[in-house]
Amino acid sequence: MSTSTYTYLCRFEALEEGVPRRFEAQGVAVSLVLTGGEVFAIHDVCSHAAVSLSEGEVEGCAVECWLHGSRFDLRSGKPLDPPATRPVPVYPVRVEDGSVYVDVTTPDER
Ligand code: FES
Repeated sequence: MSTSTYTYLCRFEALEEGVPRRFEAQGVAVSLVLTGGEVFAIHDVCSHAAVSLSEGEVEGCAVECWLHGSRFDLRSGKPLDPPATRPVPVYPVRVEDGSVYVDVTTPDER
């Protein structure tokens, strides 16, 4: 992998299924979510107001903003419910040798 754009965040075993964890990667707030055995990275700010998504609940492949209840798809960052209408950036994740890396330089706008 090209290590240049990926930032090391933590060991895979430090993540708990369904429990988001907040990290800073190159000045970007990122919420890492392990769900269904897969790791996702989503920008840690709701697109509706400046609220940390790491403090929300994980439901399948979505994280729910605790303030007004919009859920965001962790694969696309798209809101699944109102009031949020804009997607939240999601970032590519790599797990290599038990280490989790994120590339915050390439938001996955899908
Ligand atoms: S702040 Fe997240 S849905 Fe309103």
